[in-house]
Amino acid sequence: MADKEGIKVAKDYHVEEPFANQGDFHVKGANSLDWGMKKHLSRIFDPKTGRTVMFAFDHGYFMGSTSGLERLDLVIPKLAPHVDVLMATRGALRTCVPASLPNGIALRVTSGSSMLNDDLSHEVVAVEIEDAIRMNADCMAVQTFIGADGQLSSIDNLSRVINAGFRYSIPTLGVVAVGKEMERTDRFFKLATRILAEMGCQIVKTYYCDNFEEVVAACPVPLVIAGGKKLPEKEALTLAYRVIQGGAAGVDMGRNIFQSVHPVEMAQAVRKIVHEGATDAEAYAWYEEMTADRS
Ligand code: R5P
Repeated sequence: MADKEGIKVAKDYHVEEPFANQGDFHVKGANSLDWGMKKHLSRIFDPKTGRTVMFAFDHGYFMGSTSGLERLDLVIPKLAPHVDVLMATRGALRTCVPASLPNGIALRVTSGSSMLNDDLSHEVVAVEIEDAIRMNADCMAVQTFIGADGQLSSIDNLSRVINAGFRYSIPTLGVVAVGKEMERTDRFFKLATRILAEMGCQIVKTYYCDNFEEVVAACPVPLVIAGGKKLPEKEALTLAYRVIQGGAAGVDMGRNIFQSVHPVEMAQAVRKIVHEGATDAEAYAWYEEMTADRS
């Protein structure tokens, strides 16, 4: 391992230059992967736009029942037509999501903490690769805690899942956790996203920050951005617009969709930004028009 002393600060990100090993495949960093991986990635990232709207409703894995997700069986079928990928636990998927839905599946495979713990950074791999195969998961989501107490075990979890994923051509989605102890700076997100990509993740989920274009440029796989805590709809759409403008390959939004007063229209508005080139102002104007008589 290199000596930590005297390390120069990275600065030449060449943000204007496109990724140089794209080949003819639409997913960043995936040009050299095999057919099975590419097939799964094509169910996540729309080949026409190269982007994705992932809908995260895996919150129950540590929060239990959450506002907006009290009845997964009622909520998910309404939202599914407006998003590309459903990100959830196997319990939620098997009990409440019809197998007939065509969406891609991001299967959460780690767990181990709950809202009752102060330190959420200790997890285990809770889903075996055989179950991800049985469920035809398009990627496996692993929470990682860079810089936290549970860093080593989460890197161990991530490595196990990536190794199993390579055996059966299922991509791994590394999720950058943030918490009390972890900064939300570009310095932290450059470190965390790059570590996850170099570990072998095919997709990384992270957060928006200042100098986001540099975070994107330094990460050789697609970034999808979490929505985070519930914001007013206008602000959430601005966040979606900024991340797409900054070079993210999509969003993986949860609360800003399912806790919206109008979740279906909110998902559609996000979709307009991610896939149709709408600005945040255009998407919000559409949202307001669609919901005007129900506000
Ligand atoms: C990440 O920690 C989990 O996937 C969360 O359940 C998800 O990211 C939360 O999404 P949001 O912050 O948009 O509600």
